[in-house]
Amino acid sequence: MPTDFAPAPVAAFNALTPALLAQLAQIVGEAHVFTAARTEAAAYADYGRDHTEDLHFEPDAVLKPSTPEEVSAILRLCHEARVPVTARGAGTGLSGGALPVCKGVVLGMERFNKIIQIDERNLQATVEPGVVTEAFQNAVREVGLFYPPDPASKGSCFLGGNLAQSSGGPKAVKYGTTRDYVLNLQVVLPTGDVIWTGANTLKNATGYNLTQLMVGSEGTLGIITKVVFRLLPYPKHNILMLVPFRQVAQAAEAVSAVFRAGIIPSGMEFMEREAIAWSCDYLKIPLAVPADIKAHLLIELDGQDLDQLYKEAEQVYGVLEAYDVDEILLADNATQKDELWRIRRNIGNAVRYNSVYKEEDTVVPRAELPTLLAGVKEIGARYGFKSVCYGHAGDGNLHVNIIRGDFDDEMWNVGLRQPISEIFELCVQLGGTISGEHGIGLVQKGYIGIALAETNLQLMRGIKRVFDPHGILNPGKIF
Ligand code: LAC
Ligand code: ZN
Repeated sequence: MPTDFAPAPVAAFNALTPALLAQLAQIVGEAHVFTAARTEAAAYADYGRDHTEDLHFEPDAVLKPSTPEEVSAILRLCHEARVPVTARGAGTGLSGGALPVCKGVVLGMERFNKIIQIDERNLQATVEPGVVTEAFQNAVREVGLFYPPDPASKGSCFLGGNLAQSSGGPKAVKYGTTRDYVLNLQVVLPTGDVIWTGANTLKNATGYNLTQLMVGSEGTLGIITKVVFRLLPYPKHNILMLVPFRQVAQAAEAVSAVFRAGIIPSGMEFMEREAIAWSCDYLKIPLAVPADIKAHLLIELDGQDLDQLYKEAEQVYGVLEAYDVDEILLADNATQKDELWRIRRNIGNAVRYNSVYKEEDTVVPRAELPTLLAGVKEIGARYGFKSVCYGHAGDGNLHVNIIRGDFDDEMWNVGLRQPISEIFELCVQLGGTISGEHGIGLVQKGYIGIALAETNLQLMRGIKRVFDPHGILNPGKIF
């Protein structure tokens, strides 16, 4: 049973003094400094939250720099003074990565909002980390290019946050997650040094891969100030189908059957009945789910050749004939497709709107999904909790949303650790792990020992010490 859930060894750090705050304000300018004393209470409170449960940790101050030089000067001072620094993107994270649990400074990255260059010759783009993911996708699409990673929060999340967690989204099944598009990063280290991690090339066999080390490091090793992404040609066509199943287990089983038939969909999403029903209610969309339908798959195919896609769609229909499915909805125009994706993307918001919940980002090899799903429900029945499950089935990535219901604080904060551990142990037994795309952050760190051996954790702690000897960057996270 994991024990290390303590948010923070606050005593290891120094408080932000008025003298240091004055120095920091000189670096970013008074207009870009926010404290409880200077800021309207509700707005300030938001800097202490993200989308993780109902957690709240207020920082001593929020600074909003706009250049690598400013970030460097801030980090140098905080490193010397041993004051924690927690980077914050748009605050849509689901593992508490942006929460300043040891107080200190929050580094708000929203002024890093420029798309510096779209290099059409090389299919690359250089951007700042405070650009909203969807804005970046739209900008490259205007010149016929494609940036595939599309987290559900793409309309508001920042690329920097996506890098911190290696965010995925529905298209990861065909195109990979954020990490698969990163070529090179400009990073400010806690000492104030500014480095580039790699080269703007598709290949790189030059030393250790610091680029990939930074991706997914959750703001614990350095602050990313520029990114070079690789891009793809935009796929001209897509087909989207919503497949209703009478049995949940069959929906989970059909997933790997589609791949075994030789099809790689660009989206293969699972939604159990309540996930889709709650999202439709939340969005006030009158999509009636028949009483006997227990789950849906949302399957997208994309490519450059529409005839080829129709052939693949027929193959998918052929695979699905072996299962007990109701009538398949083939979306026949862009509006209908957008609406189906809007329903899918808003499941998380709908669950949050209904109840406080814990989000478990389980992931297993794709064909183990039916066993994982059955196991989650069995564990829930044994411990008396309800879960709403949905996610990126093609990746074997199931979001298990545990609903708070009537649980008291003791059960919610402590009692649930045992069943959550059992869910994660099942993932590991099946060859999976405890997070596919939401990260470890604060709320999963007590479970990391289920997925990683002590030797692995020691290696990671050693890496952390090399980058951040005083441990000021996002303390209290991952391990
Ligand atoms: C989603 C987020 C929660 O898939 O990852 O909707
Ligand atoms: Zn997801």
